[in-house]
Amino acid sequence: MNKTEEFQREVKNNIESLAHNAELIKLSYKWIEKAGKERYSYNFNWLGRPIIQVPQDIVAMQELILAVKPDLIIETGIAHGGSLIFSASMLALLDMEEAIETGTTINPRDSKRKVLGIDIDIRVHNREAIEAHSMSSRIQMIQGSSIVQDVIDQVKEIAANYKRVLICLDSNHTHEHVLAELKAYADLTSVGSYCVVFDTLIEDMSADMFPDRPWGPGNNPKTAVWEYLKTHPEFEIDKTIQNKLLITVAPDGYLKRIR
Ligand SMILES: C[S@@+](CC[C@H](N)C(=O)[O-])C[C@H]1O[C@@H](n2cnc3c(N)ncnc32)[C@H](O)[C@@H]1O
Repeated sequence: MNKTEEFQREVKNNIESLAHNAELIKLSYKWIEKAGKERYSYNFNWLGRPIIQVPQDIVAMQELILAVKPDLIIETGIAHGGSLIFSASMLALLDMEEAIETGTTINPRDSKRKVLGIDIDIRVHNREAIEAHSMSSRIQMIQGSSIVQDVIDQVKEIAANYKRVLICLDSNHTHEHVLAELKAYADLTSVGSYCVVFDTLIEDMSADMFPDRPWGPGNNPKTAVWEYLKTHPEFEIDKTIQNKLLITVAPDGYLKRIR
């Protein structure tokens, strides 16, 4: 075993042991609940655009995108555009990696790798900022509810042109809505790729945390994931991701397509 393999083995063992560290897991949930009440996930930007994620999940997405090497990332829930810009920047790095490996150059405007974002309400100032961003040539946006047939049809038509598809669901967080999104889009996930469902953490938070929202414990993305997985054995929860992150808004939300 060489030094790199030895290090990777140590990290793997460490993550496996974290999975049984009940005290640290409990503290992490407690921490994220308190931080959530302070709107912690709104504190960050990616390349200048607000991204409504916690840094741990952003790092996990970076690792996933590098491992999967998708040519299309579909995201429901755009908000200020930070996650779209993040995904587009990761695709730019994949293009750069490919260009170095093949000794070619890829003009960003000619790149086949794209991000497709869907949001029911793309505010004018957000759309303008996304369209003016240096990553914009890789981004396409659809305005409409992610679960209406017309939008689903548009997404499927676009996805048909791509080989390796990764999905992120981060829009309306009710059970009914996320289940409908999973039924509409999860099947577009390529084998070996992921359908990532954000805000599954709502299930683990206290009932009074979302007073002005239709979701809460018992009605949220995690309950939708559990329901969906009952009849979809082609997906499994990749627990290694939540085990290593400890602090994540997506426990049981990193779904790997295994067949
Ligand atoms: C949590 S934010 C998305 C954050 C974004 N992914 C990021 O990381 O910065 C949720 C977004 O979902 C959108 N949304 C709510 N209901 C929706 C629906 N039915 N279809 C599509 N988007 C929806 C909201 O307009 C809002 O912009």
